[in-house]
Amino acid sequence: MPSDYTGNYDLERDFKNIWHPCTQMREHESAPLLLIEKGDGVYLIDRDGKRYIDVISSWWVNIFGHNHPRLNKALKDQLDQMAHVMFAGITHSPAINLAESLVKLTPSNLTKVFFSDNGSTSVEIALKMSLQYWKQVGENQRTKFVYLSGSYHGETLGALSVCGINLFREKFKNVLMENLEVQGPDCYRCPYDLKPESCKAECFEHLEKALEKNRGTVAGVIVEPLVQGASGMKMYSPVYLEKLQEACEAYEVHTVYDEVAVGFGRTGSLFVCDSRGLKPTFLCLSKGITSGYLPLAATLTSDQIYQAFYGEPASMNLFIHSHSYSANPLACACANETLSLLTKNNFLENMKPKIKFLKEAGSSLSEIKWCGEFRQIGMIAAIELVQDQLSKDAFPLKDRVGYKVYLEGLKRGVFMRPLGDVIYFIPPLIITNEEIEIMMNAAFESIEAVLG
Ligand SMILES: Cc1ncc(COP(=O)(O)O)c(C=O)c1O
Repeated sequence: MPSDYTGNYDLERDFKNIWHPCTQMREHESAPLLLIEKGDGVYLIDRDGKRYIDVISSWWVNIFGHNHPRLNKALKDQLDQMAHVMFAGITHSPAINLAESLVKLTPSNLTKVFFSDNGSTSVEIALKMSLQYWKQVGENQRTKFVYLSGSYHGETLGALSVCGINLFREKFKNVLMENLEVQGPDCYRCPYDLKPESCKAECFEHLEKALEKNRGTVAGVIVEPLVQGASGMKMYSPVYLEKLQEACEAYEVHTVYDEVAVGFGRTGSLFVCDSRGLKPTFLCLSKGITSGYLPLAATLTSDQIYQAFYGEPASMNLFIHSHSYSANPLACACANETLSLLTKNNFLENMKPKIKFLKEAGSSLSEIKWCGEFRQIGMIAAIELVQDQLSKDAFPLKDRVGYKVYLEGLKRGVFMRPLGDVIYFIPPLIITNEEIEIMMNAAFESIEAVLG
């Protein structure tokens, strides 16, 4: 039992009719699901009133904590106006305001916003726009995307076609689009034996070679800037992104920045691309956009792309990707409030000492004998557990080390669902130093409890 339930519940009923995502349902025969009834700041509160720090921001979406008074109000105010309306032939102020803010806050080449409702779809849209663009400008042969090993862009079939993690793509590989996987950065197990301080992103040579070899047939390159989330919060140098920008310009291919996970302040700046003068052709946003209140996504692109779709009323050049809940007004209202919270009162500037504190508090994890690497960028941190620090060998899968640490964490009041044996921290940005300390101590104790 992961948590000390005291109530008299029918625990089997919790999963009798529901099939949960990313879950071997049989697990719950022995480990009950956590039934959460309430959220309060960084805390989740279960049916017994037990509080857990939401260490991973409910799958990385929550920026300002649960039950935030200003977000609640923004949502309620919009609800009194209109819950939803279709988004073709009709527009509305929450979406107009949001698009305007996003364009102001992202690189200057991004001037058009296409709304949808989840991260995978924001990627699908970027891929489809890119392909259709090349077709409409007469470059039909540009049909392939280059993606990195270890990359994750969602789980629809298009997004899986640019996924560099076997766990997700293997079962469907026979039906996926044929794209080009290249070896991506792997700083912990760097094949060049370089240290992050002196690295010049030598590993970029793989991508460069792929662009050279496939000159004229590549539509675009897709990356998760700075952090490959699903593959274990693997972090890499911004130099890689600078080289990518140069190469994409030289080979005239699109760059797709998937900032679904890292956008909205996670890395310490609002967006990775904006903080470093990078200019992607497409920028995919979701997750933190509504601070975890409602599903929403946006794909931003340039006027050059937009113009290739702009034609006579009867022309078939239009972009067709229509979801019923595109630009839902309630979600847009939450997004507008999220952006207001993020950009006013020096919120991101004031976060700097907290980022430093997270780094210091987390570095105590490096002392653990099983710590392969402790890594951190902004408010994202992770410890990769290995069975041997020298060889960097992972624990056998069957040992389920990460999962056992997760169960220990629940006992200690932290919800830190791991990625394999990577225990990671991507808490709501409003977490206090005191809560960071509680979270890190709980992680330390949980790892010790499992591995000794
Ligand atoms: C980088 C990245 N892209 C896309 C997605 C897919 O987003 P969603 O789960 O909303 O479809 C995720 C989800 O974790 C992600 O991390």
